[in-house]
Amino acid sequence: MPSHITHLECTLCGKTYSHRAPMRLCPDDQKPLFARYDLAAAAKTLTRDSLPFRAPNMWRYEEVMPVERPESVITLGEGYTPLMRATRLGEALGMDSLYIKDEGLNPTGSFKARGLSAAVSMAHQLGQMKLTMPSAGNAAGAMAAYAAKAGMEAHVFMPEDAPQANQIECVAYGAHLNLVKGFITDAGKLSAEAAERHGLFDVSTLREPYRVEGKKTMGYEIVEQFGFAVPDVIVYPTGGGTGIVGIWKALDEMEALGWIGKERPRMICVQAEGCAPIVAAFRNGHEFAVPFPDPHTLAAGMRVPAAVGDFLVLRAVRQSGGTAVTVTDQEMVDAVRRMATLEGIFAAPEGGATLAALEQLLGSGEVRRGERVVLLNTGSALKYLDVLGPALSG
Ligand SMILES: Cc1ncc(COP(=O)(O)O)c(C=O)c1O
Repeated sequence: MPSHITHLECTLCGKTYSHRAPMRLCPDDQKPLFARYDLAAAAKTLTRDSLPFRAPNMWRYEEVMPVERPESVITLGEGYTPLMRATRLGEALGMDSLYIKDEGLNPTGSFKARGLSAAVSMAHQLGQMKLTMPSAGNAAGAMAAYAAKAGMEAHVFMPEDAPQANQIECVAYGAHLNLVKGFITDAGKLSAEAAERHGLFDVSTLREPYRVEGKKTMGYEIVEQFGFAVPDVIVYPTGGGTGIVGIWKALDEMEALGWIGKERPRMICVQAEGCAPIVAAFRNGHEFAVPFPDPHTLAAGMRVPAAVGDFLVLRAVRQSGGTAVTVTDQEMVDAVRRMATLEGIFAAPEGGATLAALEQLLGSGEVRRGERVVLLNTGSALKYLDVLGPALSG
């Protein structure tokens, strides 16, 4: 396995750590750690010309993936999802370069498969065979599936109103499901306590260094699928923020690999009106977000009132010249319907949120109709039938 990982580095203080021991946050400042690679060495084999001969999943970028032992790669075929040209939707919006990256086609029906494939693989390599995690829903389903594939024990802590499909799939995959009164932040506390008490490894997003490594492959794929170019705009539905942070990290790595130059897409962070801590921080010019009171939205994945990687999302959005906007639940549902009827893609409400945000930004002139825009549909609506069904027929 030709991983060129060299070490872990704190995203705030820059202190470095070995990747050969189980790590979570930086012990000094409790901020996320990033995996770092010898990108000059990786560039020798991870060339554009080599890609057509590689596996059609996210492990095709193995030089910049963290796993060093091939037998520890736990895969269900995640990644390499299609980047679909949205011609009918584009026509309706007066755009001819609108694309949807359909992450709903991943194993377990969401982009969470990428992060959990990477995190479970690294846990396996590090000998951590008992995992725990708080989740809005989709991540728990993904962890449960990868843990099953790896023969690991999985404990998940999920708000009791998480979508039914996520609860059922966790049980089906043999995970220990704990339903929690409250929000994902409350689930996080219980998961941390269980980790402490029972010696479990907690793979909460950005609180361990490798989920972001899986999610960054969305960025690699977008550039590869654009023929080694970047789009003008990427619209991303943001909860914990690992996706947007991962795509931004991938762009810097690809510049070092010589795949792209200094150009960057404008990163658009979309949150629900009922839970928008990062949008509030963006508007107020803050570096860190303030926990959002009384969070509510039917898009469970965006109901994250406080995120440990908030400053990393804000950095990416600001450095890219992008913006952060909110959409209402009704706007998400209406957009899900439009994406389904015009493109044949039945998106999760989070995916609908990206279309609603695009429409808003076309209206304000912040996105121009001639630009190349990628919407990330992060999951399948089939995981949300209990919440979306009544909303769509209402
Ligand atoms: C479908 C979906 N979209 C988006 C998100 C938010 O992702 P991130 O944590 O990368 O911001 C989630 C998280 O649960 C999700 O399940």
